[in-house]
Amino acid sequence: MKRVLLTGATGFVGSRLVQAYKNCWQLDAPNREQLDLTNRAQIHEYVTQSMPELVIHTAAISNTQYCEAHPLDSFLLNVQLPERLAKECEAIGAKLVFFSSDQVYNGTRTAGPLPEDALLAPITVYGRHKLQAEQRVLELCPDAVCLRATWMYDFERPNLKNNTGFWGNLQAVLQQKQTLQLAVREHRGITWVMQVVQAMEQMTQLPGGVYNMGARNPLNTYATGLMCLERMGAEESAMALLQPDTERWPQFERNLSMDTDKLKRACGVDFGDTVDSFAACLTAWNKEKGGTEL
Ligand SMILES: NC(=O)c1ccc[n+]([C@@H]2O[C@H](COP(=O)([O-])OP(=O)(O)OC[C@H]3O[C@@H](n4cnc5c(N)ncnc54)[C@H](OP(=O)(O)O)[C@@H]3O)[C@@H](O)[C@H]2O)c1
Repeated sequence: MKRVLLTGATGFVGSRLVQAYKNCWQLDAPNREQLDLTNRAQIHEYVTQSMPELVIHTAAISNTQYCEAHPLDSFLLNVQLPERLAKECEAIGAKLVFFSSDQVYNGTRTAGPLPEDALLAPITVYGRHKLQAEQRVLELCPDAVCLRATWMYDFERPNLKNNTGFWGNLQAVLQQKQTLQLAVREHRGITWVMQVVQAMEQMTQLPGGVYNMGARNPLNTYATGLMCLERMGAEESAMALLQPDTERWPQFERNLSMDTDKLKRACGVDFGDTVDSFAACLTAWNKEKGGTEL
C-alpha cells in the first residue's frame, strides 16, 4: 500500500479523504496535537520518520475574512507551510499534492472560463497567498500538483467536519421558506466535495503543475441558485425565494469560473457543471435519507 501523509485530516476535505482512503493507502493523518504544522523542526522529523511516497496538503487557514484581518497568520500557514512541505518532499522524492483555490482569480477582469495561464492579480490576502504558495511550491518541487479548488460543500455527516455552504444555503431557503439574495454579477464553479474526494486517487497521478479543479459553471450565481432549487423540486417557488442581487461586485463582475480542460486531458477527471454536481449531491442525500432518487 502507498504510504501517504495527509495534512488537515480534521478539516472539511481532509476528514472525507481519511474516511474514503483509510483502507486503500497506508495513511498517516496527524491532527494538530500530533503534528504542529507551524513547527519547522517537527515537520522535518515527522516527514523523515514516516517517509511518505505521497503528501496531500489540505491544511490551511481557509477562512478568507480571517486571512484579510490576520495576514501574518495567513502567510505562515498558507505560504510558508506549503513551501516547507515542498522542500521536504523534494528531499525524499515524495509526490506533493497541494490544495490551492479559485480565489487566485479574484482580481481578474476577463470574462468566461479562465485557463490556468490567465493573467492573475488577486485582490485578497488569501488569494495572493495561495498564488504565492503555488509559485514557491513549483519552484522547489516541479513535480508537485497544485489544485485550484472551487467553493465546495457537502450535506451534514456525523463525525466529519461539516461545511454545507451553497447546499446549506439553499436547504435553508426551502425548509425555512426564507428568501436569499444571490449575486448576478458573479461567475464561479461550485462543487460537491465528494466528487473531489472520489477523484483524488486519479489526481495524485497528475504530472507536476497547476490545475483548475472542480465543476464548471456557465451560469451566474443567481441563475445557478434558481436551477439548483428547481432540481430540489421547487420549480414554482424558486423565483419567489431567490432574489437577484445586482449590486454586489459593482466595480467589475466577479469571475472565478475556471476552464477545467487541462485536468480532464491530463487524467480524465471531469466534474461536469455546477448544477450536475449539485444534482449528484442531491441524489446521494436522498439515498442517505432513504428518500426517492431524482
Ligand atoms: N472548502 C472550500 O470550499 C475550499 C475552496 C477552495 C480551496 N480550498 C482549500 O482546500 C483545502 C482544504 O480546505 P478545507 O475546507 O478542508 O479547510 P478546513 O476545513 O478549514 O481545514 C483546515 C485544516 O487545517 C488544519 N490546520 C490549520 N492550522 C493548523 C496548524 N497550525 N497545525 C495543524 N493543523 C492546522 C485544521 O486543523 P484543526 O481542525 O485543528 O483546526 C484543519 O484540519 C485548503 O487548502 C483550502 O484553502 C477549500
